Amino acid sequence: MAKHRILFVCLGNICRSPMAEGVFRRVVDEAGLARQFEIDSAGMGDWHAGESPDHRAQAAAQTRGVDISGQAARKIELEDFDDFDLIVAMDGANIADLEDIVPQAARGKIRRFLDYAPHLDHDEVPDPYYGGRQGFDQALDLIEAAAEGLLAELMQDKTKKDA
Ligand code: 4NP
Repeated sequence: MAKHRILFVCLGNICRSPMAEGVFRRVVDEAGLARQFEIDSAGMGDWHAGESPDHRAQAAAQTRGVDISGQAARKIELEDFDDFDLIVAMDGANIADLEDIVPQAARGKIRRFLDYAPHLDHDEVPDPYYGGRQGFDQALDLIEAAAEGLLAELMQDKTKKDA
């Protein structure tokens, strides 16, 4: 069976997309579906390439049982648009930046993460980098809701395909 290949994208790949990767891994693990998924994250820029996630992101994720300490930041590459089925962006600026570089054939792979949590009164995961810890906790609230929604949608699509 083909795996679902999901790439989470933000600006720097040290705050939001690493938390999204970690939370989505946990959601998928808890559903017993880890073997069906390939999950990664990347940034639009390379300022922090090779670095671990921001210590505030690590600490905030840890309080929710998510260990992201082993991740290393990287910049998105053109091959990612081939290698992944969905490119899931944290905010509108990420979407615009992705649309500037996406090969034509992969345009349909770009998604806005919070579209998977339409009940929330947010459509972006705000960048917590220049704020305090509270921004990371708020980002995680949004990320947890959207991660559940993303898995639910993928499983629903599968049920439709199998029917
Ligand atoms: P992220 O946050 O996009 O959620 O990883 C940021 C991290 C670093 C920078 C900007 C945003 N920066 O400009 O270095």
